[in-house]
Amino acid sequence: MIEERGDRMFSFVYKEGEVNVYKNLCNGQWVESEKKQRIKIYSPVDDSLIGEIQAQTKNDVDYAIECAKEAQKSWAFMPIRDRADIIHKAARIMEKYIEEIANILVKEIAKSKSSAISEVKRTIDFMHFTAETAKRMTGETIYGDAFPGFDKTKISIVDRVPLGVILCISPFNYPVNLSVSKVAPALVGGNSVIFKPPTQGSISAMYLGQIFDEAGIPPGVLNIITGKGSEIGDYLITHPGIDMINFTGSTEVGQHIAKEAGMIPLLLELGGKDAAIVLEDCDLDETAQNIVKGAFNYSGQRCTAVKRVLVMEEIADELVAKMVAEVKKLKVGKPEEDADITPLISDKAADFVQELIDDAINKGAKLLIGNKREGRYIWPTVFDYVTEDMRLAWEEPFGPVLPVMRVKSIEEAIDISNKSEYGLQGCVFTKNIDKAFAIAQKLEVGTVQINNKTERGPDHFPFLGVKASGLGTQGIRYSIEAMTRSKAIVINLDNDYK
Ligand code: NAP
Ligand code: G3P
Repeated sequence: MIEERGDRMFSFVYKEGEVNVYKNLCNGQWVESEKKQRIKIYSPVDDSLIGEIQAQTKNDVDYAIECAKEAQKSWAFMPIRDRADIIHKAARIMEKYIEEIANILVKEIAKSKSSAISEVKRTIDFMHFTAETAKRMTGETIYGDAFPGFDKTKISIVDRVPLGVILCISPFNYPVNLSVSKVAPALVGGNSVIFKPPTQGSISAMYLGQIFDEAGIPPGVLNIITGKGSEIGDYLITHPGIDMINFTGSTEVGQHIAKEAGMIPLLLELGGKDAAIVLEDCDLDETAQNIVKGAFNYSGQRCTAVKRVLVMEEIADELVAKMVAEVKKLKVGKPEEDADITPLISDKAADFVQELIDDAINKGAKLLIGNKREGRYIWPTVFDYVTEDMRLAWEEPFGPVLPVMRVKSIEEAIDISNKSEYGLQGCVFTKNIDKAFAIAQKLEVGTVQINNKTERGPDHFPFLGVKASGLGTQGIRYSIEAMTRSKAIVINLDNDYK
């Protein structure tokens, strides 16, 4: 429970009766929405009320952005080692909140306890790595004499400078890690931040405000705006005070942002339909284990989940039998009991998954296991003989359902993989590394995993989607680069100094 700590009441939350009410960090103060309107956050696990967050208004947004703009001027000129120290300090402070944040994640997004703890620990590592990476990023010096007509008296000194005010918007499935994956690189790069967490995930994310406040982030450098994306989102993304948008979420919203945001840099990490291509010579046991973990971790609510299996028909019977055996080991239950399959984030999400399941059945797919639902619980479901006329072959379920499509050749597998509107990741299972590379080079995706499930980590690797899966590249150094720009200062020496 939230209690007084030392000489300071835990500033970002207070009790109203039995209810925890969360305030927002803005210009170094913990504030409530202008109209004192709030949003109740219920747990998808048991519909219990977890707390209330602020439903902020356009005036709240205007004020936050005005403060961010002003604060960024001095923040940009703070020595990089001092900015990095604040990120390191925030990481150390987060250590003391691991259990508390994990328990909120369990309630707020139904993430299993061990996965929740892992998300917070990964975020701590992310912040330390970001701080150290930033201190080692440098510009370059270029002389004119490489180009005809110029000589060494013309020198370009190229530095990287912050973009200004970054709007960081994160999704429900990693409300701590995928928030920090934007906020930390933005801050260390000298930007100020307007941070819009997912509504279902806002309470977990609010801890970041408390942690950075305790770490000494200057007033106005980090400001949190809560409220439904459908209500306040468009005002945020079209606001003239925003210099860059770093968004992770659905393709639908990402494409909307791309249309509405105007001429500012965007970093968009969107949906996926990652395919596992399985060749005859793979290690079938390892492959089955990887595919099942990749498809059903966090009940399939990961952009990088394995969302279709394209298997050579010669080995398909063996592979699906091993996959089903692995699926049977998965425990369906409560996140606090560390079940593998926990309730989906909402009734709407579960309804959509069920729709795809029903469509596959109606069109003749062979149900191997699953298709059982109790409220937001959907049992892990695998279909064989999925064909291209089925929605499940192409749509992103963001839930525990996996289609197996049998193919006759590698060319057919590559063709089906590339027909997807998405292009996040893909994975290839084979013992022949030459074949794996040849396939990888033809897949229209951001990343190809060879003999491993699709996944984002480790977090210093480039992480990107192409086509409907995104725009730009995330990953610690890449994110810092995406939220800064080149600044060239050209020195023109007097010829006498040649
Ligand atoms: P979402 O519905 O797109 O929401 C993502 C974020 O955008 C939330 O903070 C949401 O706020 C906000 N938002 C919604 N409408 C907005 C608008 N008009 N303007 C500005 N912000 C707006 O996605 P989600 O349901 O949270 O996450 C699931 C989706 O994200 C899946 O498609 C998944 O594949 C994708 N995803 C991709 C990655 C990746 O790295 N590529 C990672 C995780 C998730 P509210 O919560 O208030 O609606
Ligand atoms: O959907 C979240 C995306 O970033 C996946 O992360 O580490 O589970 O592959 P990860």
